[in-house]
This record gives sequence, structure tokens and C-alpha cells, in this order.
Amino acid sequence: MQDPSLLTGKQRQLVQFLQTQSQISSLQEFCQQHPELDFNFVKGFLLSGALDPHVELQERTQGQWVLTSKGQHLNGQIPGAILAEKLMQGLVQVEPLQAELGSDFSLNYGALRKENAVDMVMQDDTRIITILDPTILQTLQQRQRQFSKIFSDAIATDPTDPTDTTGATATTNADWQWFEEQGWVERQSGQDYQVAIAPTLQTLSVPPLVTTLTSDLLISGKWQEVELKPYNIQDHVPDVAYGRPTILSQCIQRLREIFLGMGFNEMSGYLVESAFWNFDALFTPQDHPAREVQDTFYLANPRTVPLPSDLNLREQVKQVHEQNYGGTWTEAEASKAILRAHTTTSTARKLHQLQGQSGKYFSIDKVFRNETVDRTHLAEFHQIEGVVIGELLSVRTLMGYLNYFYQQLGFQKLKFKPTYNPYTEPSLEIYAYHPPSHKYLEVGNSGLFRPEMLAPLNCDRKSTIAWGLGLERIAMILYDVEELSDLVGSEIKFL
Ligand code: PHE
Repeated sequence: MQDPSLLTGKQRQLVQFLQTQSQISSLQEFCQQHPELDFNFVKGFLLSGALDPHVELQERTQGQWVLTSKGQHLNGQIPGAILAEKLMQGLVQVEPLQAELGSDFSLNYGALRKENAVDMVMQDDTRIITILDPTILQTLQQRQRQFSKIFSDAIATDPTDPTDTTGATATTNADWQWFEEQGWVERQSGQDYQVAIAPTLQTLSVPPLVTTLTSDLLISGKWQEVELKPYNIQDHVPDVAYGRPTILSQCIQRLREIFLGMGFNEMSGYLVESAFWNFDALFTPQDHPAREVQDTFYLANPRTVPLPSDLNLREQVKQVHEQNYGGTWTEAEASKAILRAHTTTSTARKLHQLQGQSGKYFSIDKVFRNETVDRTHLAEFHQIEGVVIGELLSVRTLMGYLNYFYQQLGFQKLKFKPTYNPYTEPSLEIYAYHPPSHKYLEVGNSGLFRPEMLAPLNCDRKSTIAWGLGLERIAMILYDVEELSDLVGSEIKFL
């Protein structure tokens, strides 16, 4: 017998309950009658020997007959029974029987014929059924009555069920066997126990366990008498769903790993930029439509951002603009503060910082455009920027990098289409094949930087390839999300 002081609160409750009993003939039934008792819990506890020798368990295998699915399919009708009923009533003419029973007729007749109980003969131009063995039909009728009852009970009880006193439908062992042979019923055995409880159990003192130390217990001093539940620091605590990265963050991390794997370094920039780094350093004329407020967010505070301290850079940018576009290039326009409209600002800053050194850089960062917001457009989104500075880089190299990158994400086919950017020549739009929609979707823009852009940044001796790709589009495709609002904000209804 286990030390009673080690019993849990639940076990104590059970012991107290058992103390009021002397004999349980079926533990299964007992637990059914007392819903607060879980059969498996009680069984496990008693089988563990915790209450030995006060309690004695005896196994009882109790079989139950239940309908098989084949039996259930019969819908309570034994084949042949309806016809047997009619024949015993003296209705033997085939035609009216066929009319009455419909498609059931042949099923019923076949069943009886198989048993050699009936036959079909001609009598004065009418087909009739003759009964060859009336006892078979009687037995069948008797079984039909039993089967109807079994069917309506759904689960039939023990063959020796003492509660069935009607006699008329009492099913004998031989009948059950017959039903079993037909494959309509089967025996299901469930484990059960008979429990003998010795009066000695009552001598056991199992005070309830106190699980909460209340102020009442403390003030009254009762805490010294009661049995307090000990702490169990080994116990499992419930799992808590901790915060986790959003889909967009997960996606960014995945792409970051691809670039790092391709030998790229990550670069960063500023959300608030000067028009200089966003446009002028990128050889975008000061009257270019993209610079208008409809497309770009200009800041009221601060209204301007200091221009780079490299006076040579400023001077060269001014010259290259004025030589190629005419007019006067002004620092006032270039120093306007904006929310960057692309991450090529980071690229331009990087090129300037490198002063002609080669390298491979990427960034995955937020950009802003003054666009109408809809299902697939937001005023802020992310760009995947990449730049490779080296020698002998060509459109082929560019396409190679992009193909490799998209392949890592599972996009097998890319298409490139010529386009125009002020700062690249040639410029290529990138389309990726999206199998579910059987379409090529625009995923980015790319090109080789023009010498007019590279020269002022002091990068003229190298060739450069660069791209800017949309992150949200890729994320929507990869994570099968239909609306941008499912990717950003606090609502995650698509999950
Ligand atoms: N900045 C371009 C855009 O926002 C993308 C781009 C980057 C194109 C680098 C060419 C080279 O669409």
C-alpha cells in the first residue's frame, strides 16, 4: 500500500468514494454511473496496487455483440424474410408479389431459392412459388424478429442478457452464431473488473489535499493542520504560443540567406533621404515626372537634408545633369527631404563609399510611394536590392544572377523585357512564371548602371549590374496569400 500522504487530490477523492462501497460488480458500469470517475484513471490507480490489500481487482471479460457495417447495411431486413412472410400468408402468385416488392423481389427470392426453401412453377398459366420447406421460412421469420430488435437496439447486449425477458425476441447462442456466420454481427470485448473493497479501507485516513493557501487558512492558523499539496517542480507546464516572426519577416530572412549564400554582403540606408541620393545621384533629371508629389512623399519636417560633404561629387552630378539635360541643376531641389522611393539610394551610397572597389551587396528594405492603396498596392512596401560591381559584367551575368536567385525560391522560368530607367542602360524588366495562374508576373526591374551615373560616384572603371525586386509579390506567391492586407498589419485572418 502506497503512503497515503503521497496520494494526489484526485486519488484522495477516489479513495473517499471507494470507502463508501463494499463491492463493485462492474467497474465499467460503475464509472458510467458516476461521470466524475474516469474508467481509465480508476483502473490505472487500482491496478498500480496503491490500495492493496484493501482492494482486490478481478478481471472480467465481457463480450458484446455489435452490428458490423455489413449488418448495418441490411437496414434491419434479412434477405428473404419479407417474401417468406408473404408466402406464409398464402400469397404465392409471382406477378402481384413482384409488383408489391419491386426490386426487393428477386433479392428475396434468390435468398430463399439458395436455401432450397422454395421453387417457381407454372399453374394454369400463372407463375406461382411453391414452398419446399416451410420450416426454413419459419426459422427465417423468427430470425427476422430478432434481427429487427438487434437493429433497433443498434448495439445488442450479452447473449445471456437477463434483462431480455420477452422471450419472443430472445436471441439464442445458436442464432447469434448464425448472424455472425452471415457477417452481420461481431463480438466486441471490453475489459472490465470486479472490485472487492475490504472494510479495512475505511480505516485509512485520507484528508483532502489543500491546493490553495488562502488568507483564511493563514489568518485562522488552520494552515498548520491541513494537508497542503506539495510543489511539483517537475510537472509539465502548458505550452505557450510565443510570438513569432510575421510572414514578411520570415520571407525576408529566407531571401537574406539566399543572398548571403551567393556571397553578397548586406547594405543599409535611410528611410528619410535627400532627393539627391534618391534621384540626382541616379542621373534622374530634376524635372522628371517621378519626382512629382503625386509619386514621391516630400517631408514638411525636416524640409531638407544636408547634401553629401563630398563637394567633388556634388559638382560632377551638377555637370553631368546640365550637360545632358540642359537647364540649371540646383542644390535646393536636390536637398529636399523625402521618404525614399527605392532602395537604389543605398546602392548609390554604397558605390560612392566604395570609390571603385568591387563587391556584391544586397538590401531588403522598406520604400515609399505616393500610390493609391488597393488589394495589391500599398504606399509602403519592400524592395530587394542587389548590386554587383566588378569587371566584364554583362546582361548575361545579370540574367544569370537573377535566374539563380529566383530558382532558389522555386521560380523556374524567367523572362526579361527591355525597359527604360534614367540610370541604367540597358534596362530589363523581370517576369517570373507562376504555374498556378499560368502567367508571367512582373517581379522587378534591373540593368547596368550608366557611365553618367557611375562617373560622379567615382566608379567609372568598373562595370555594374543591379536590380530592384518587389518583396511583397514574392511573399504573396510563396505563402499563397491573396491580399496584401494579409501580409501587413495585425490581422491574420487568412491563417
Ligand atoms: N530602382 C528600380 C525600381 O525601383 C529598380 C532598379 C534597381 C532598376 C537597380 C535598375 C537597377 O524599380
